[in-house]
Amino acid sequence: MTTGNNLSDYEKEKDTFQWSDVEKVFSWHQTGKVNVAYECVDRHVEEGRGDKIALSYSDPVRSENITYEQLKQHSNRFANLLKRLHIEKGDRVFIFLPRTPEFYASFFGVLKIGAVVGPLFEAFMTAAVQDRLDNSEAVALVTTPQLLKRVPVDQLPHLKKIILVGGEDNQQLGHYSFEKGVFQESSDFSMEWVDLEHPMIIHYTSGSTGKPKGVLHVHHAMIQHYQTGKWVLDLNSDDIYWCTADPGWVTGTSYGIFAPWLNGVTNVIRGGRFSPDDWYQTLETNKVTVWYSAPTAFRMLMGAGDEVVEKYDLSNVRHIMSVGEPLNPEVIRWGLQVYKKRIHDTWWMTETGGIVIANYPQMEIRPGSMGRPIPGVHAAIIDDNGLELPPNTMGHLAVKTPWPSLMRSIWNNPEKYKEYFQIPGWYVSGDTAYQDEDGYFWFQGREDDVINTSGERVGPFEVESKLVEHPAVAEAGVIGKPDELRGQIIKAFIALRDGYAPSEELKKEIAAFVKSGLAAHASPREIEFKDKLPKTRSGKIMRRVLKAWELGLPAGDLSTLED
Ligand code: WT7
Repeated sequence: MTTGNNLSDYEKEKDTFQWSDVEKVFSWHQTGKVNVAYECVDRHVEEGRGDKIALSYSDPVRSENITYEQLKQHSNRFANLLKRLHIEKGDRVFIFLPRTPEFYASFFGVLKIGAVVGPLFEAFMTAAVQDRLDNSEAVALVTTPQLLKRVPVDQLPHLKKIILVGGEDNQQLGHYSFEKGVFQESSDFSMEWVDLEHPMIIHYTSGSTGKPKGVLHVHHAMIQHYQTGKWVLDLNSDDIYWCTADPGWVTGTSYGIFAPWLNGVTNVIRGGRFSPDDWYQTLETNKVTVWYSAPTAFRMLMGAGDEVVEKYDLSNVRHIMSVGEPLNPEVIRWGLQVYKKRIHDTWWMTETGGIVIANYPQMEIRPGSMGRPIPGVHAAIIDDNGLELPPNTMGHLAVKTPWPSLMRSIWNNPEKYKEYFQIPGWYVSGDTAYQDEDGYFWFQGREDDVINTSGERVGPFEVESKLVEHPAVAEAGVIGKPDELRGQIIKAFIALRDGYAPSEELKKEIAAFVKSGLAAHASPREIEFKDKLPKTRSGKIMRRVLKAWELGLPAGDLSTLED
């Protein structure tokens, strides 16, 4: 297998590369059984790298370095605790914690017993937490006493065990102290070896209709995390790597956990809130060499000004990448000027599990383009019949099935899963794009109503459902409105119930209602009251018409409009 990372290698590997070559790196090549936690953590200890720092953690009040040996022991103890609580292989165990060292020890502990891990974004409020735990039929949850207030335990019949970081045992309630629990357990654990296709992780993500979908990935996905870690993240064993994404989202696991640790690097985790000074300080103090972030963050850093950058020594940074939303050419030009580095865009989705299209480190960057497909995966622009379109023609961005990190199911929802594969032989992403003559992909937009705000994917249906729970709201339609900083912001059109009068106060109250009930990032930044919303005869709110209103464009075919 070649791991060299230059353009001629890319061209060569496009023709010759086979995923089976990568499998030889892992022990399952001999045994047929696997565990991603072993490959991320224990393997490095066995191969003599136990003293190396695996996790370099800091937040405004706490900072800690954890070696591979310690990460192995912590996760073993946690795995033993889960066993003692009779959690079994295949059970869903969710983690609702800030991104602290306890998060990562729990994460690998869950995987070590062969259970399925479900990371929950720390900012979720009750409705969002309930939907996910309910749909996945999670039997155990790792959280804090503080965050537990947002877990409606009495409405979750499957949830039996709650492990509390910084909390007390309470047998009757099924509460177990994390600290007491792991302290009692042995740091030896015998790994549960599983099949390559054994479920590994569930990430919930949004579509345009219905509740969030539980995207399931299996252990086999790791070969793509590992290999793209080499090719695209350019990871070498002496790298110090920082992925700014939260592990509640797929970037924060595929590239915040799996790729770096499979490649044995030192992984920097920074807790706390975003601030330009804090982020640059993190890069400087940790001597970060490889940095993976998102367009909204880069735009905010750009907005903070060049003077802030100049206060810090960023000379160790060798490679910068971006994902999640369109990366503006302007941001790339700015990055080149202040960081003296090109920001490399990458494209993928929760469902693809790993990077599919990227600007390779050594590739010529075309600002505004997402780059070219990785070897071993065939991405293309296709028409409705699955025919590949010629260069410079817009169509569906699709990926030929299968590839290692492709999702294997939508939890409890085979119908939703099928929707992605309606064109035989292809996974259809829901993005539109075109390819230029040299095979670079250029993003055009989403084909559905999914909103991308600050790189976070929000389903309008979830927000609308929450909005209509407010006593003043009769009907609500939600769209993404173009925004310079955040890509899109959430805008809600609302028809009020009789007896309520529109006011600025009411707007604030409704926005706060979504914020405290669902999640801050899902709360509408803009609300507009309307007497009536455009609906189809079957009563569906026509978001297309709302968008046209917003942008001052023609509303298109209105033949299905109610009146
Ligand atoms: C959607 C997937 C897994 C990465 C984090 C987001 C948009 C992603 C880009 C890019 C333009 C992008 C697409 C995609 N997106 N990367 N480089 N340029 N748009 O994962 O939450 O599943 O969202 O994010 O629209 O479909 P996600």
